Amino acid sequence: MTQENMDPSFVGEGMYRENILDHYKNPHNKGEIENAEIKFTENNPLCGDVITINLKLNDHKVDDIKFSGQGCAISQAATSMLTDEISGKTLEEIKNIKREDVVNLLGIDVGPVRTKCAVLGLVAIKEGIKEFENK
Ligand code: FES
Repeated sequence: MTQENMDPSFVGEGMYRENILDHYKNPHNKGEIENAEIKFTENNPLCGDVITINLKLNDHKVDDIKFSGQGCAISQAATSMLTDEISGKTLEEIKNIKREDVVNLLGIDVGPVRTKCAVLGLVAIKEGIKEFENK
C-alpha cells in the first residue's frame, strides 16, 4: 500500500498500535508504593494475567499511583495509560470511569475478549477503592 492510497483510518489505527506498544515496552508508573492506602490485585481468569494497583491518597485524591504485574500488551498498555489518566483525580471521579473510557484510551477496536484485557487495571483500581471504602 502506497502512502497516497492508504486508508486514513488504517493510518490512525497504526498510530494507536504504536502508542500501545510504546506503553507496553515503557510502562508509565510501574512499581510499588510503600504504605499505599489502596493495594489490590486482580487477575484475568481466562489467561491468568495479573495486575496489582497501589494508590497513595491525599485528601481523597490520587497523590501517587503505581502498578505491577504481567500480562498481554493490551492489559499492560491500558493500565499504563489509565495510571496517567487518574493521577490527581478524586476517588469519586475514578469510580465514574467506564470500560468504554479505557477502550477509548487505547484508541482501537479491541473486541469482547480483549476488552477483558483492557479493563484489568480498571477493575483492580475499582475493587481496591471498594475495599478501602468498606474498611
Ligand atoms: Fe491476559 Fe490479556 S491475554 S490480560
